[in-house]
Amino acid sequence: MVSFFKNTHKTIFGPNQYQLRGMAVLEEFQGRGLGTKLLKFGENILKEKNIDIVWCNAREIAVPFYNKNNYKTTGEPFTIQSIGIHYVMCKPLGT
Ligand SMILES: CC(C)(COP(=O)(O)OP(=O)(O)OC[C@H]1O[C@@H](n2cnc3c(N)ncnc32)[C@H](O)[C@@H]1OP(=O)(O)O)[C@@H](O)C(=O)NCCC(=O)NCCS
Repeated sequence: MVSFFKNTHKTIFGPNQYQLRGMAVLEEFQGRGLGTKLLKFGENILKEKNIDIVWCNAREIAVPFYNKNNYKTTGEPFTIQSIGIHYVMCKPLGT
């Protein structure tokens, strides 16, 4: 699953931002490219809506997944209590 919400991040410059939330693939199906497919499917819908930037609060363990999908970390890491270290990551949809 993945969900996207119209939401602007206070440290990210640019119009028409959406936040990605709740990205997950069932454990037994991870590592088969499904997360990447799902992400691209969602990004294409946002492109059709002329959205410029997608951002998310990425769990540290998921940073390589988002990097592989051309998301970049921005700013300092921060901790969400009981979940752990997170990074703000974003991607301009023109790229
Ligand atoms: C992160 C997640 C959504 C990726 O989905 P996926 O279908 O496994 O992703 P893909 O198969 O497209 O994998 C692409 C890359 O993701 C990373 N990845 C894959 N499985 C992973 C796992 N179990 N843990 C961490 N990273 C993983 C790898 O960098 C992988 O690249 P590689 O195949 O070259 O090694 C999935 O692993 C997941 O649901 N994890 C648990 C929930 C979570 O952390 N969600 C993100 C919250 S911000």
